[in-house]
Amino acid sequence: MGQTQSLALLGATEDDLEVATGLARRLGLPLLPTGSDPGANEQVDAVLLVRGRSLLLQQTGRAAPGPVAVEFGSGAMRHRRRSGHNELLGKAAGLGKKPHLRVLDATAGLGRDSFVLADLGCDVILCERHPVVVEMLRAGMNTVAAYGDQWLVEVLGRMRLQPGDARQLTVRNLQGLDVIYLDPMFPPRGKSAAVKKEMALFQLLVGKAGAGSDADELLLWALQQDVARVVVKRPSRAPDLAQQPPSHCISGKAVRYDVYVRRKLAS
Ligand SMILES: C[S@@+](CC[C@H](N)C(=O)[O-])C[C@H]1O[C@@H](n2cnc3c(N)ncnc32)[C@H](O)[C@@H]1O
Repeated sequence: MGQTQSLALLGATEDDLEVATGLARRLGLPLLPTGSDPGANEQVDAVLLVRGRSLLLQQTGRAAPGPVAVEFGSGAMRHRRRSGHNELLGKAAGLGKKPHLRVLDATAGLGRDSFVLADLGCDVILCERHPVVVEMLRAGMNTVAAYGDQWLVEVLGRMRLQPGDARQLTVRNLQGLDVIYLDPMFPPRGKSAAVKKEMALFQLLVGKAGAGSDADELLLWALQQDVARVVVKRPSRAPDLAQQPPSHCISGKAVRYDVYVRRKLAS
């Protein structure tokens, strides 16, 4: 293999080969020999590793950090439930002003904010346009049953995956929504190894320069939709998206939520 490719599929064992082959075909990516070592691979920047029901994105090379996966049942996600961050996000979305808020997360990514919102009782559509991220989300959502945890099943029951660009959603998709939530940000938000690892992988997938470059347009699109509010997550000192001043901000230490109120949230 002479040419450098950025991403390839890899089955961890022979049992994973069928799924890995199907995904490679669907995503138009090369398939590496089953069980090969991502640490020793110099042909690709990262592998999408199929291991049982899990789909892990792993950078190649000896010094690479560990893999990233969507794991809604993980300790980190459970911990997130109790963080103050959730309160801020819930407040920004208008939680408590109307039962069962219907939220479109138009930049679903690894689904953590969607999960927080669904855990707070919102019905959430997770819209994601990057096909690899979509597959990671799908795998994460499909593995939930394996945890045998009723709470998790109920939270996931309020989440629905919608692949594609949010701006291409049909009127039917958008009907009855209360809130559009955007988190297009890519500048590093923290110093922890986990955050750095995820940022590096996102940048590898979505591209440093291109990432977030159409975020302004996304906000302008969202503001034209028939919703009660649009909420945008921003690094705390970042300028307003699309130079649009929000109605108000809910500020935390590293991030703030810019809230654009369009009308009252009525039950
Ligand atoms: C910073 S990540 C979001 C992280 C997410 N909030 C979380 O909690 O995991 C941004 C994601 O939005 C996606 N994205 C950006 N613009 C989009 C659009 N117009 N439609 C759908 N997805 C979009 C990118 O592909 C990327 O996966």
